[in-house]
Amino acid sequence: MKVVIPAAGLGVRFLPATKSMPKEMLPVLDRPIIQYVVEEAVESGADDIIIVTGRSKRAVEDHFDYSPEHGDHAALAHLDELSERAKIFYVRQRRPRGLGDAVACAARHVGNEPFGVLLGDTINVCDTPLLRQLYDHFQKLGGKASVIAVDVVPDSKVSDYGIVAGDEVSPGVIKVTGLVEKPALADAPSRYGITGAYWLTPAIFECLRKTPPGRNGEVQLTDALKLLLEKEPVYAVTFEGTRYDIGDKFLWLKTNLEFALRDPQFGERLRTFLTEEVGAPPPRRPPTRRSTGSAPVG
Ligand code: G1P
Repeated sequence: MKVVIPAAGLGVRFLPATKSMPKEMLPVLDRPIIQYVVEEAVESGADDIIIVTGRSKRAVEDHFDYSPEHGDHAALAHLDELSERAKIFYVRQRRPRGLGDAVACAARHVGNEPFGVLLGDTINVCDTPLLRQLYDHFQKLGGKASVIAVDVVPDSKVSDYGIVAGDEVSPGVIKVTGLVEKPALADAPSRYGITGAYWLTPAIFECLRKTPPGRNGEVQLTDALKLLLEKEPVYAVTFEGTRYDIGDKFLWLKTNLEFALRDPQFGERLRTFLTEEVGAPPPRRPPTRRSTGSAPVG
């Protein structure tokens, strides 16, 4: 199973932290975001992962490489296991031309087979890994249609997402009839937002080649899916699990807090710290003693 992980974004919303460090390398608890994404791909069955990088992203490659200076440190065992279960390749996107363009950079590597796409800045926590859920739907639907993950988004967030239009053909499965990238609320055909996990047929590559720059002047994967719809069915599925979009500083802080609170090593200590130190009312100033004239003696 091949999986493409676009990780070429500039990380502007995390400056100054991302001036010389990829945003995908920001840690959540004890590991960089991109490691969670690779874990999800591997747990879903991927044995061939291609990460789309760009300038200033070398730390991503180093992270999945063997480092002699750390040797076989126990904390790295899981990371080594990942690298054994899947071969990781890299391709560079030369210019920041959007998600669609980033996926197109992997075309030659993927070839003529269905493949997964997971965003390099989104962590999904699901009992069955999200990409595996999409793949299972793909099989059940006959193995010919692309399947993308969606979630119901609140009105205030509609313009942050690709939104799909469609008909629910079975619980949680929507046959897509239209897609629009980040519409104004008034133009949104539904509240089903694309969450950033996709199982795609290789026909998407030809569509990407034909997709002109769209929103923000970038080649949008959502627009290419709209072209794909003219040739093949596309389904959207709601999924079981929680998605952590780590798109800005606050979301990153929140995700760290949630992960730490759930962690057996840190949860209890952090809860105590938050309730007893951070949450405690500020110490009251001692009452000022009123002068009674001369101090009592003795
Ligand atoms: C991308 C996609 C969008 C999708 C979103 C999910 O946008 O273009 O369709 O809804 O990911 O996070 P981005 O967040 O990269 O601007």
